[in-house]
Amino acid sequence: MKKIIIAIDGHSSCGKSTMAKSLASKIGYTYIDTGAMYRAVTLYALRRGFIQGDSIDEESLRQEMPQIRISFGKDVDGVQYTILNGENVESEIRGMEVSSKVSPISAIGFVREAMTAEQKLMGNGGAVIMDGRDIGTTVFPDAALKIFVTASDEVRAHRRYDEMVQKGQNPVYEDVLKNVRERDYIDSHREVSPLRKADDAIILDNSYMTIPEQDEWLMNQYIKAVSEK
Ligand code: DC
Repeated sequence: MKKIIIAIDGHSSCGKSTMAKSLASKIGYTYIDTGAMYRAVTLYALRRGFIQGDSIDEESLRQEMPQIRISFGKDVDGVQYTILNGENVESEIRGMEVSSKVSPISAIGFVREAMTAEQKLMGNGGAVIMDGRDIGTTVFPDAALKIFVTASDEVRAHRRYDEMVQKGQNPVYEDVLKNVRERDYIDSHREVSPLRKADDAIILDNSYMTIPEQDEWLMNQYIKAVSEK
C-alpha cells in the first residue's frame, strides 16, 4: 500500500496527538510530535536563562540553536518520549512553565526555520503522521491527507487539566483555560507560519466525540486517502 504523509494540525489540547498516535500504531507509521520539538527548544532556553519574564534573549538563543539536538525515543511499553541533547525531558516539557513560554519561542523565525528543516528530514520517506500547527501549510504542503482539528476552549482546557492531574501535577483550571486561549491567540497571529487551516484540509471538531469515535473517523479518512492515490 502507498506510504503517505498525514498532516494533523489544529488548536492546542484538542487531542491531535492522541488520534495521531493511535492511527500510527495501527497502520505502522512513525508519529512525530512537532509541538514537543518547540517545547524542547523552550526548555533549553529556560534552562540557559534566555527567557526572563516576558523578554527573550533571541541573540543568545540563535547562537546556540546548532547545539540543540532533539529526537524521540520509545520506552519498553512503546510509549514515545522526547529527548533533548541526550536527556529524556518528556515530563518537564509538559509542565506549566514550558507551556506558558512555548508560543513566543515558536513564533521566532529562526527557531521555526530550524524545526521545519528537521521535520522535513524526518518525514522524507513518507509513512509518517506529523502533528502541529503548520504541517499542512508549511512543512508538508503536498501531504496526501491533511486534517485540521478543533474543539471548544472549555473542552480543551478540561482535557489538558485532566492530563496534568493524571501526571501528578496540581493545576488550577482557570490558569489552564487562560493558557489555552493565550496560546491560540499567539499561534494564530504570529507572522511566521501562523496556525491556519490549509485550504485542502478536512476539519474535525471533536468537542463531543469520544476517543474511539475520533479514531474511527481518522481511520476512514486514511483509508479514503490511500485508496484515492
Ligand atoms: O501541540 P503543543 O501544544 O504541544 O504545541 C506547543 C506549542 O508549539 C504551541 O503553542 C504552538 C507551537 N507549535 C508550533 O508553532 N508549530 C508546530 N508545528 C507545533 C507546535
